[in-house]
This record gives sequence, structure tokens and C-alpha cells, in this order.
Amino acid sequence: MAEWIPVATRAELEESNGKVVTQDTTTLAVFKVGDEVYAIQNECPHMLASLAEGSLDGVAVVCPWHKGKFCLRTGSSIGAQNYGSARVYQVKWEGDDVLLMWPPGQSKLVIK
Ligand code: FES
Repeated sequence: MAEWIPVATRAELEESNGKVVTQDTTTLAVFKVGDEVYAIQNECPHMLASLAEGSLDGVAVVCPWHKGKFCLRTGSSIGAQNYGSARVYQVKWEGDDVLLMWPPGQSKLVIK
């Protein structure tokens, strides 16, 4: 069953720097943008650079290797060159903790 689990604290997230979080065998990059928090797969879909080492451009991360830009809300490639799509993950603040919905892609389906 999916549940919210703590993966980082506010103090660990600096504005403009991503934090690598490993959950099970999945590696994510967690970013704080203003008061919001986002999580995206850490491996760039182009050639697997670490997106956590990228830079922020608004609500997007710019890959450190070939400057592919990915929306942190949708994972979509932004710009003239399409570098594929990155998976994004559901995260939220709870006080000073970042919680991750895990495992991803599961929702509680109510059948009546
Ligand atoms: S490895 Fe990220 S854009 Fe090429």
C-alpha cells in the first residue's frame, strides 16, 4: 500500500541545489523551489547525468551535461531539443519534513 514516507528535511534542501534520495532501488532528485518541493528521477533520460547536480530555471531543472531542461511538475522536456521525459514523484511538506508518496503510481481505488 502506498504511503507518505519522510525522505529529507527542509534544512537539507538548499535553494537551487538538488538532493539525491534513494528509495528502494530508485534514485530521485529532490528540489526546493520557493515554498514548493519537487521530486524527479535523478538519472537524466538522455544520457543518465545526475539531475540533482543540475541547475534550476524556474520550476525546471537544467541537466549539467547537455543542458536538457525538464519541468519539475511534469518531467517533460522543455525547449527546442527533446531529451525525452523524466518521471516525477509526488512529494509534499509536512512541517520541516519532505514526504514522498511511495511506492509511486499507486492510488487508492474505491470500487462501489
Ligand atoms: S545527459 Fe542530460 S541532457 Fe544529456
